Amino acid sequence: RTVYLNGAFLPENEAHLSIFDRGFLFGDGIYEVTAVLDGKLIDSPLHMARLERSVGEIGGRLPVSTDEIVAIEKRLIAENDLGEGLIYLQFTRGVEDRNFLYSENLAPTLLMFTQAKTLEHVAAVERGVKVKIVPDQRWARRDIKSVCLLPQVLAKRAAKADGFDEAWMEEDGLITEGASSTAYIVTQDGRIVTRGLSEATLPGCTRLAILQLAQETGLPVEERAFSVEEALSAREACLTSATNFIVPITTIDGQPVGDGTPGPIFKRLRALYMEHAR
Ligand code: PDD
Repeated sequence: RTVYLNGAFLPENEAHLSIFDRGFLFGDGIYEVTAVLDGKLIDSPLHMARLERSVGEIGGRLPVSTDEIVAIEKRLIAENDLGEGLIYLQFTRGVEDRNFLYSENLAPTLLMFTQAKTLEHVAAVERGVKVKIVPDQRWARRDIKSVCLLPQVLAKRAAKADGFDEAWMEEDGLITEGASSTAYIVTQDGRIVTRGLSEATLPGCTRLAILQLAQETGLPVEERAFSVEEALSAREACLTSATNFIVPITTIDGQPVGDGTPGPIFKRLRALYMEHAR
């Protein structure tokens, strides 16, 4: 595979990073994951806007414009003949001797690579996924797409160990979001509920697209936090992320959601999103 590192397109085994990279030593970096379907980037402007915002929030500066980033991503898709999968991008503050404080003139690290993956025709769409509720143990600025993912790594491992597919993180009795996805429920009276934007969660790009599609279609949406109890008595539940698009949740902590099968609101949203992605 050809990857991009700091201005160069290289075979993956020739792309090398310093052991002093602050992304490695401090988790001092930002990332983005953008889906690719039929060789095309999905919701790319939303991912670029969030990237710029995250980098700005940590006082960094992208070394190239987001237009150039999109051009690099398209070249990687073409060179690697990627039909379906994702582009991973990582920005880090750069390389220097280990010190919590950093020099203002550091040259940042910018890395991009493609990863082939089946996204559209996956078993989860028909079968649904099982989520486990775990405590949200992350920091207070979850709106920044930071590479410090240890709490999510541990949450997903705990979920997997118990036979679950994804972890939903809970704080003060409310669901914040999935370990790597945005969380939704559908109430008994058919309203789609997902948490409003704040520093407590990542502003999902797929979330933004889904909410817009729902609103355009006249499906009722409520942007507010929901409790664990509300989730356990919901009619439907689902999650969104760049690499899942939207998938149904059929059990929460082992309890079936609704009748335990993917519901009509999910199916409607999935159809709308796939049409939007194409
Ligand atoms: N994760 N919330 C969290 C904590 C996430 O890590 C993600 C995405 C989302 C959904 O955001 P989006 O719709 O923009 O992908 C919500 C990516 C896919 C990942 O870490 O691989």
